Amino acid sequence: MEVSETIESVRNMVRAAGRQGRKIGLVPTMGALHVGHISLIEAAVKDCDFVVVSIFVNPTQFGPDEDLDNYPRPFEADLEICRKAGVDVVFAPAPQQMYPAENLSWVTVEKLTEPLCGRGRPVHFRGVTTVCTKLFNIVAPDVAYFGQKDAQQAIVVRRMVADLNMSLEIVVCPTVRESNGLAVSSRNQYLSEQQKQDATNIYKSLQTCRRMIDAGVSESRQIIAEMRKMLQQVPSIEIEYVSIVDAETLESVDKIAGTVLVAVAVKIGSARLIDNILVDAGT
Ligand code: PAJ
Repeated sequence: MEVSETIESVRNMVRAAGRQGRKIGLVPTMGALHVGHISLIEAAVKDCDFVVVSIFVNPTQFGPDEDLDNYPRPFEADLEICRKAGVDVVFAPAPQQMYPAENLSWVTVEKLTEPLCGRGRPVHFRGVTTVCTKLFNIVAPDVAYFGQKDAQQAIVVRRMVADLNMSLEIVVCPTVRESNGLAVSSRNQYLSEQQKQDATNIYKSLQTCRRMIDAGVSESRQIIAEMRKMLQQVPSIEIEYVSIVDAETLESVDKIAGTVLVAVAVKIGSARLIDNILVDAGT
């Protein structure tokens, strides 16, 4: 496995692989790799002939009061995980490599970035779409892998690729969870054992939602009230949003029909946690 810190060297390696007719897969990450990331890497290794994992804690997607400085960076452990998973190249640029000058050019996706996480994190998706565009331009993958765990991110990136005719396929892999249902996240490291236990209520509230929809409840307001009640039973949970939205447009749905995205964001201690499920309510 090669480790590349420069745009030039990763480009050279990918170009050489491309000349041999190999299918190039990219898994963009911010490191602190866990089983969720590994599931994306495994999908890439299975589908592609040459896999690049990028590890870059992208400063432009963090707001001023967010955890950029504290974000975990266990680089050696990450490399070991990639080695074991059969990755060909880890691209781990320094911030100056990716942003050598003040960044004046941004990629923004409208509308889809306004609700849900966009409301509380106004510059976040602009940073994500800009860095993904840069990574796609640098690596030129045939396929890039994203997780359903960050549902809005996956939808926004897919739309950007379609709208801007980017020449790659986006594959979205299912959310990997702990046995107690908690979605695996690099930010779970910020939680104490008690807080981890408290956080299991997030997925429980999503399952309650699924049960209510399956039982024929179609008023979003009623379901959201029940989910909020469940989350509020745990005093350490501070709710940011509980939303039921159209799975394509991300617009709020009052009367549930078709496929909806049910999404939750909370704070527990210093950790901001998100989770979601897709529910097909039929027509
Ligand atoms: P990061 O949070 O490191 O996540 C990298 C990828 O792993 C994302 O596509 C995310 O959805 C996926 N992922 C995280 N936890 C997961 C889980 N439990 N199950 C399945 N997939 C999971 O998301 C980012 O980094 C950044 O915004 C990035 C796209 C790299 C741009 O900087």
